[in-house]
Amino acid sequence: MSPNHDPYHHPNPDAPSAPNPVSPAQAADLQQRAIAVAQHAYAPYSHFRVGAAVLLVDGTIVTGCNVENSSYRLTVCAEQAAIATAVSLRGPSIRIRAIAVANLNDTASQPCGACRQTIHEFSTPDTVVFFPGEGGAIAQATIAALLPAAFLLSNS
Ligand code: THU
Repeated sequence: MSPNHDPYHHPNPDAPSAPNPVSPAQAADLQQRAIAVAQHAYAPYSHFRVGAAVLLVDGTIVTGCNVENSSYRLTVCAEQAAIATAVSLRGPSIRIRAIAVANLNDTASQPCGACRQTIHEFSTPDTVVFFPGEGGAIAQATIAALLPAAFLLSNS
């Protein structure tokens, strides 16, 4: 099967990137959707309610919230919920253009390590992550900057 027909084919991370910046209006829309879906969070243990809104390269927007469990380690983070839904809706070749993460706790919070790895799996060299910064600011960084040494099975 040629790479072009392989739905799992990952873009060459060393290929020259063609930045296509998310506009301020798109970023604000993602942020608002992340806050809205955070209202659905199931977080009776941490009370930390998180929402994520993913903008795919094809323009699709998908959201997700954290879903905790009495057996704590079974908790699903908002980013992971959103990305699992995006794959379910659009299939295995999705690529993330941007993802906004928000919480209802007015707390600066970066995506956890597991979520960085999950975002990286479906990223491009330009995938950008928006997350709550200090003092209510919205911080942003590329996934490449947030996870410079991602695990890749082919490197093992
Ligand atoms: N959480 C997320 O949803 N995303 C992250 O990136 C960090 C943590 C959730 C998991 C758990 O339900 C709560 O926040 C507290 O850790």
